[in-house]
Amino acid sequence: MRTLRTLDKQSNQTSFITQKFEETFGGSPAFIASAPGRVNLIGEHTDYNDGYVFPVAIDKYINIAARKRPDRRVTLHALDVDDAWEFSLDTLPAIPPQAPTWSRYFIGVASLLEASGREIVGIDAVITGDVPIGAGLSSSAALSVAATLAFLTASSELVGDGFPVPEDNKKKLAALCQRVEHEFVDVKCGIMDQTISLLGKENHALFLDCRSLEYEHVPLNLGEYAIAICNTKVKRELAASEYNKRRAECERGVDILSRRIPCISSLRDIALTDFKKHEEELPALTQKRCRYVIEENARVLEAVSVLKGRSQSAPEETDASLIRLGSLMNASHNGLRDDYEVSCKELDLLTDIARSITGVIGSRMTGAGFGGCTVSVVHQDALEIFQTRITTEYHQQTGIEPEIYLCNVSDGAQVFRSPGLS
Ligand code: GLA
Repeated sequence: MRTLRTLDKQSNQTSFITQKFEETFGGSPAFIASAPGRVNLIGEHTDYNDGYVFPVAIDKYINIAARKRPDRRVTLHALDVDDAWEFSLDTLPAIPPQAPTWSRYFIGVASLLEASGREIVGIDAVITGDVPIGAGLSSSAALSVAATLAFLTASSELVGDGFPVPEDNKKKLAALCQRVEHEFVDVKCGIMDQTISLLGKENHALFLDCRSLEYEHVPLNLGEYAIAICNTKVKRELAASEYNKRRAECERGVDILSRRIPCISSLRDIALTDFKKHEEELPALTQKRCRYVIEENARVLEAVSVLKGRSQSAPEETDASLIRLGSLMNASHNGLRDDYEVSCKELDLLTDIARSITGVIGSRMTGAGFGGCTVSVVHQDALEIFQTRITTEYHQQTGIEPEIYLCNVSDGAQVFRSPGLS
């Protein structure tokens, strides 16, 4: 069951995009493919190290209203960036040099779907959404997931409302969307964002083992606490290259450590005690990067067990367990700032302000870093003061108006069909 607020929001978005489709192409769209962004509660930069993550899907979506075409052309209008692009499925997988970045997700998805043996058809589509772009809430994963659903639906691979495919197929689609980032956008991302966008569940966090891809939906028993996301509104051009560098540094660490510790193939396989015995053999920078990842994996496991334990414990213990969750989030941010070095002064400022407010139990950056958003766990009674203080103090010190999103934890990607669409 989706909350009324989420349903309302989705139905407003549905009417808006339907109208835009009609204005652009004439006639109604056949369906709307909708994929959510995410916020990661804990487990940052662990996914490409075969580790653990703990994200939730949020009620912010990328929506694609589409209709199949009788030929193999793909005509796209991206409303939020006021841009359009067109290509033919016959030219895949070539990416014309002038293709805008957003169109590469469609070119990539279509290429990989065809390469997997599926027969896809051309589409007319308009794209819009409210996942802030480049803010660390996975707008690009949501775009590739929604594009995948759009091609599959138009090509009659998906029949019926919702997204009625077995969960194992969703994992395969997540892997396909991850390949799009690697091969068509040149970001060597992990599997977290695409998986949560496909497998999110309302009011649950996804505990995902990024090696086996086994997962568990853990009820998000936050009681009187809410999740607040704050956007620094800062974007770093270096994010993609620094991201790929971090990945390479971790691989280097594994390579060196595997000469000392047998049977390891990723940082996930190394216990902190073993790491401490051998860390001196690593170059200083590699040492810091690896330490962070190993500690972060342990924090995710503890955070998951804290949340799972809450349903069974007495009310006075529940607050103590949430406070522990908050401390783990704080420690995660400190590691990202000091050892992994992917934070920035604006993210640090937002977490510092948040942590100084009574009623905030934890605050950390979320996503790849170098800008983007923080995630905080805030007592309901403190939400008002939280919003006031974050807005005024962040603005005073940076001159930037931050954005604050109080999101519901939502279901994963869906397809809504005409008539009515929702
Ligand atoms: C980006 C990537 C993810 C993950 C996070 C950091 O969002 O797409 O795969 O690595 O950064 O945790």
